[in-house]
Amino acid sequence: MEVTNKYIVIKHHIEDSPKESHFEVKTEAIGLSLKPGSDEVIIKNLYISIDPYLINRMKSYSASHNAISFATPLTPGQAIDALVIGRVVTSGNAKFEKDDLVMGVFTWAEYSVVKEQSIIKKLESFEFPLTYHLGILGFSGLSAYGGFFEICKPRKGETVFVSAASGSVGNIVGQYAKLLGCYVVGCAGSQKKVTLLKEELGFDDAFNYKEETDLNSTFKRYFPDGIDIYFDNVGGEMLEAAVANMKAFGRVSVCGVISEYTDIGKRASPHMMDVVYKRITIRGFLAADYMNVFGDFSAKTLDYLRNGQLRVIEDRSLGVESIPSAFVGLFNGDNVGKKVVVLADE
Ligand SMILES: NC(=O)c1ccc[n+]([C@@H]2O[C@H](COP(=O)([O-])OP(=O)(O)OC[C@H]3O[C@@H](n4cnc5c(N)ncnc54)[C@H](OP(=O)(O)O)[C@@H]3O)[C@@H](O)[C@H]2O)c1
Repeated sequence: MEVTNKYIVIKHHIEDSPKESHFEVKTEAIGLSLKPGSDEVIIKNLYISIDPYLINRMKSYSASHNAISFATPLTPGQAIDALVIGRVVTSGNAKFEKDDLVMGVFTWAEYSVVKEQSIIKKLESFEFPLTYHLGILGFSGLSAYGGFFEICKPRKGETVFVSAASGSVGNIVGQYAKLLGCYVVGCAGSQKKVTLLKEELGFDDAFNYKEETDLNSTFKRYFPDGIDIYFDNVGGEMLEAAVANMKAFGRVSVCGVISEYTDIGKRASPHMMDVVYKRITIRGFLAADYMNVFGDFSAKTLDYLRNGQLRVIEDRSLGVESIPSAFVGLFNGDNVGKKVVVLADE
């Protein structure tokens, strides 16, 4: 049997803010049976994780390209690989059978034809929605856990600031910090998101950074005695102002710098005298650095979920054609929580 497979490509490299017109939906015919002796696996994609880091792979040059295998540059016109959950349709590999649910690095497409090394794991039946493997129990959660607990070594009562706090990683960091007994303030790009942080996610306070004209005085207002921990998702002037308002021995965990991804001229330049005299630690990380604590992260987070102590926020779009707008929306603040595109019924 043959099907028409729709997949998304970039038309050319993207050097600044992504637009839907930078993308194209392509179609191809693929057979759902394999040639004798093939070790490939054909997967019907169900859920695609939409992640900001891909913008750096879409550039002709980015400092990230040589850092790690999953940051390699994308080629215009070719399928875009990303984290996906799907169901096996046909398997030439003895480890996988028809109807197995799998998660791996597949493509922004309805179907993906992959080799074993692209499959990260088989998914067993599960008490929570499968999409949790892409967000709270996946790399978003691991980034929040590793970046907050392993880098910042937080203590009860400390003051914590989180940027992009209603996003996939940020909302989890804020909730972990509250569960530990920290004082937590988040920022986000709309009043609706600020209300969500304060009224549904338990943040002590929150502000809309787009309405603040002087971030230094904003921080003085929310942290009169200074910040112990800053979990940075955005970089730029937010990082500069946060560093200026850190306490002695403050820790900054740099998860991402989304405001710099789409503005080639933007660079945070924190005042290094503050860093020296206040003995501030600023440390970047990649989620993959914390695979060694995946077991602890997963067990603790599952406990919190089972006890109803963590809220999960997902933002879903439907259909392969919605992938470009879902991705572009990350850079306009359209999403609330983990952005996922749903391609087919389980
Ligand atoms: N180190 C790692 O391994 C790792 C893993 C996952 C993610 N990350 C990074 O962590 C950050 C958050 O990722 P995520 O997956 O959780 O995405 P996300 O926060 O769910 O979505 C991105 C959010 O960033 C905010 N944003 C967009 N442009 C901005 C700008 N110019 N200035 C300030 N805020 C902006 C928007 O919210 P507002 O409405 O608040 O503007 C948007 O909703 C990103 O920088 C990402 O690259 C790193």
